Amino acid sequence: MVGRDDISISVIKRLPRYYRFLQSLKENGIVRISSKELASRMGLTASQIRHDFNCFGGFGQQGYGYNVPELHGKIGEILCVEKEIKTILIGAGNLGKAVTNKMFSKKSGFKLIGIFDKNEALCGNMIRGIPVRNINYLENFCIDNSPICAVTCIPSTDMGEITDLLVKIGIKCFWNFSTFDIAMAHPDVLVEDVHLTDSLLTLGYLANTSNTESED
Ligand code: NAI
Repeated sequence: MVGRDDISISVIKRLPRYYRFLQSLKENGIVRISSKELASRMGLTASQIRHDFNCFGGFGQQGYGYNVPELHGKIGEILCVEKEIKTILIGAGNLGKAVTNKMFSKKSGFKLIGIFDKNEALCGNMIRGIPVRNINYLENFCIDNSPICAVTCIPSTDMGEITDLLVKIGIKCFWNFSTFDIAMAHPDVLVEDVHLTDSLLTLGYLANTSNTESED
């Protein structure tokens, strides 16, 4: 087993996919699986899977394979899904609502405790049982509740000011949907950028450079 700090980011980025696959196997009542079978279902190689799991001590047993519920639980532990990092969301528009409804309904390691918007008309609305508060209350709310993480669903034009305030009042990690470069402005905080457009542009490139494009 390598030290947790030495595990490569590419291994860490594969863990959620293992977790998701194992969740589905578990839901389908599968209790035991070989690394070969898991690899073939996931489009990986068995040695890749063994290498990834060995970074955390290895979970299989020679001749048995993996116990699915146990492995699912262990990967969940590594991903800290049972933790509830206090999280706030800024921007209760279309994206903010969708993220609140879809992303905070299952265990993720994060607990949404507050939603903020500058549009008075949205304040007081409830999203998944959480009231939308006026952004003017952000600072006091953070002092009282000490959130650690912020989800940013506002236009990048407003992000500089909001990010400075959030960092000042103790936010340590950002799930950033805006195009604003938080990491550049605040190199000491953790940032995970999510850009659906990047994914679509990548697909566009691949679609246009492979043989799937229809000739006109
Ligand atoms: P929207 O207009 O429906 O919602 C934006 C909300 O942010 C509004 O309710 C507005 O009042 C609020 N807001 C703006 N400035 C604020 C501030 N300083 N403090 C508090 N609230 C503020 O827009 P939508 O569709 O929800 O998109 C939000 C942002 O996310 C846009 O900038 C858009 O480009 C981006 N986006 C990113 C995606 C991604 O994949 N990363 C996908 C879709 C949108």
